[in-house]
Amino acid sequence: MGNDQSHSAPHDGPPEVLKARDLPSIAKYMKSTECRKVFVMLGAGVSTAAGIPDFRSPGTGLYSNLQRLNLPYPEAVFEINYFRQNPVPFYTLARELYPGQFRPTLTHTFVKLLADHRLLDTCFTQNIDTLERQAGVPGDRIVEAHGSFASQHCVDCKASFDGAAMKRGVETGDIVKCSDCGGFVKPDIVFFGESLPPVFHQKVPRLRSADLLIVIGTSLTVHPFASLTSLVPEGCPRVLINMDPAGDFGGRADDVTLLGRCDEIVRDLCRELGWEEELDREWGKTE
Ligand code: OAD
Repeated sequence: MGNDQSHSAPHDGPPEVLKARDLPSIAKYMKSTECRKVFVMLGAGVSTAAGIPDFRSPGTGLYSNLQRLNLPYPEAVFEINYFRQNPVPFYTLARELYPGQFRPTLTHTFVKLLADHRLLDTCFTQNIDTLERQAGVPGDRIVEAHGSFASQHCVDCKASFDGAAMKRGVETGDIVKCSDCGGFVKPDIVFFGESLPPVFHQKVPRLRSADLLIVIGTSLTVHPFASLTSLVPEGCPRVLINMDPAGDFGGRADDVTLLGRCDEIVRDLCRELGWEEELDREWGKTE
């Protein structure tokens, strides 16, 4: 896993599949029989409304607020080689990010509605907060591409460890060490310098059959995740819902970029789809 920024020239011809590059046209396409397999890619921006900071937003993002951890540079907190030398900053941050303290957002619920309406093929998420599951998205439709806190291993001998021990370690700040080799134990979150889980590689080829790709709340800077946007067929409309432009969106005929807060845009989209009441009802269940 690594960082990169890519941009491409904007497409200046008319759309080919959509009527127009706007929200009503996406809703119309989603209601048509052409649109059967929807893929979703999520990033930290879908969870900011739940109170979890994203990584790169200037001022509010995690990477601009880690001075207290005395890191040589912010990304070190998620680097495997740094963790081997000093696991304390990660354990400190893990306590703040540990799942169970946050409520899913409207955007997570929107992904559940896609599943309820039998449109969701796969939701690829970079997030480790498990809010997709908490919102009720079926587990077999979710790919946690950057892992999660659900399991843990010794970084040296790879022995697996009990979740209760890990949770205690994160809560108390006592670094969990492997009872076999003494190595540090780390939740199975994918760090810079580590491979993505096998399920990611198994599910990626499915993108070639996508009818619609919806990308929400990500700067699309971390690869290989970010490169998934280029795997959908040319005739597959791609929608970016984000505060800022990202990746190569705008480079294809049927790219639609909707800038703003994702919960607001998702509500507008649900209204166009006739799903707004359902959105509020389902979100209400997550309280
Ligand atoms: P980033 O922080 O890089 O990007 C989050 C994006 O979401 C930014 O473009 C924000 O503008 C946007 N955003 C924030 N709040 C939003 C909102 N309410 N509505 C819409 N957009 C919003 O986060 P990621 O792209 O997820 O890796 O970062 C990718 C990876 O980098 C993470 O998975 C993490 C990190 O290193 C690991 O932890 C392993």
